[in-house]
Amino acid sequence: MSSPGTALLNRLHEQSTAETMARARAQFHGSSEELADLAEQYGALVPRLRGRFLRENGLSSEDAESSQGVELLLAISAGMGQFLRNMVLAHRPSRILELGSSCGVSTLYFAEALRTLGSGTVIATERDAAKCAQLREHIRTAGVESYVDLREGDVFKTVAELGGTFDIVFIDIWADAYLRLFRQVEPLLRPGSIVLADNMYTAEDAVQAYKHYLEHSPRFSSTTLDFESGVEFTVVVS
Ligand SMILES: C[S@@+](CC[C@H](N)C(=O)[O-])C[C@H]1O[C@@H](n2cnc3c(N)ncnc32)[C@H](O)[C@@H]1O
Repeated sequence: MSSPGTALLNRLHEQSTAETMARARAQFHGSSEELADLAEQYGALVPRLRGRFLRENGLSSEDAESSQGVELLLAISAGMGQFLRNMVLAHRPSRILELGSSCGVSTLYFAEALRTLGSGTVIATERDAAKCAQLREHIRTAGVESYVDLREGDVFKTVAELGGTFDIVFIDIWADAYLRLFRQVEPLLRPGSIVLADNMYTAEDAVQAYKHYLEHSPRFSSTTLDFESGVEFTVVVS
């Protein structure tokens, strides 16, 4: 990535980590030392145990409807960003649909990968106006405006207005809405499309209906990657 983009992403990752720690501190009833100890244990866990660990310790990372209006980036990690970047470089999509863009961390990874390929568009979606304003500023700073089409507003309304098909879809809104949103996106998928959904471990309970639907539909081949916050990797078969 270009240096303005790299510096920006480093800053946004630092900000997001600091916000997550501040949220944990507000939720946690023990001392700072105990919280630091928990953070270390969390980091050492295999990803699929992380959601349960947080719940058992009275902490929540579920990006659910209750987070609406909260001024947090809730951004993907750098590791997840690198994974999205590689997905784009390997699959060479013309059209990417990003559902839940916040201030644009995942958007920046997608857009930068498209710039490396020299073509393609990521449609970013976000309903929080302040986050949209920041996203616009971030893509300008990184110089990737020509690869991003931001649709501000409710994602269900945005998706209803879309046509054609998408090569990659990334789902990262509130986890309890994944299935309803996926059902709406289905007509925009073609055989070979890839759908990635974040937070399969950190929002384990909220995503059960989504996982169950994928497991029982012959149109999709799906597996949960034991990686970061748990990524559902779904390929459209037919
Ligand atoms: C986990 S954050 C997305 C993080 C982003 N992918 C990143 O890596 O920076 C989820 C975002 O989805 C947005 N969101 C949730 N429900 C939405 C809806 N119905 N329509 C549009 N945006 C929504 C929230 O405002 C929030 O900013």
